[in-house]
Amino acid sequence: MRLDRYLANMGCGSRSEVKLLIKNGKATINAVMIKDPAFQVSPDHDQVCLNGQPIVFQRFFYLMMNKPAGVITATEDLKATTVLDLIETRYHNKDIVPVGRLDKDTEGLLLLTNDGELNHNLLSPKKHVDKCYFAKIDGWVTSGDQEAFAKGIVLDDGYCTLPGKLEVTFEGPISEVMITIREGKFHQIKRMFQALGKKVLYLKRISMGSLVLDPDLAPGEYRELTKDEIEALTR
Ligand code: URA
Repeated sequence: MRLDRYLANMGCGSRSEVKLLIKNGKATINAVMIKDPAFQVSPDHDQVCLNGQPIVFQRFFYLMMNKPAGVITATEDLKATTVLDLIETRYHNKDIVPVGRLDKDTEGLLLLTNDGELNHNLLSPKKHVDKCYFAKIDGWVTSGDQEAFAKGIVLDDGYCTLPGKLEVTFEGPISEVMITIREGKFHQIKRMFQALGKKVLYLKRISMGSLVLDPDLAPGEYRELTKDEIEALTR
């Protein structure tokens, strides 16, 4: 990897800013000053410093976002705001993508990463990763609805979902529920309720496997995962 790319990728500035720093003799590789921005660095073997400070290479990035409503789960779009638009530029050009998809009007936990293996493992139906959602439902949710979720529900296209869990946390004309499912079919929860003759009014993802949405993140905010959160997810 070129030295200027290494430094820009590690958040030391834009490509042109780091080029200037390198030309001004601020960068060293294994304690030798390097003034050529195109100099090749081996991220796993070389020690790179900028202004005397070690710049440790981070290959994978893991961001937890509280996705707000009105933003689409995509990396780019000509018209709509995407979740990537909410991320600082220092995380751009790192092949970070959302893990799975939340609908435009769905809020809550969205993991973004450039760790392709983790992305695959979290989404693969074979790995049975539980995804937990809070929802408000128009109407009273019945024990019959709960039994239907426990059995699996036939959707509008004939697909029968895997068994899920439906807990009622508030009984009323607008019910509040927690739903746990292991799949991520298109509009799955909305279509499961639709099959039961009910409408989802509000949907928020709370957890995905071991990863739980940080309650300190306001909609639209994000943070890097902690070491413990990464270890629990990749275990
Ligand atoms: N199920 C849905 O219907 N929508 C989502 O965004 C996630 C799960």
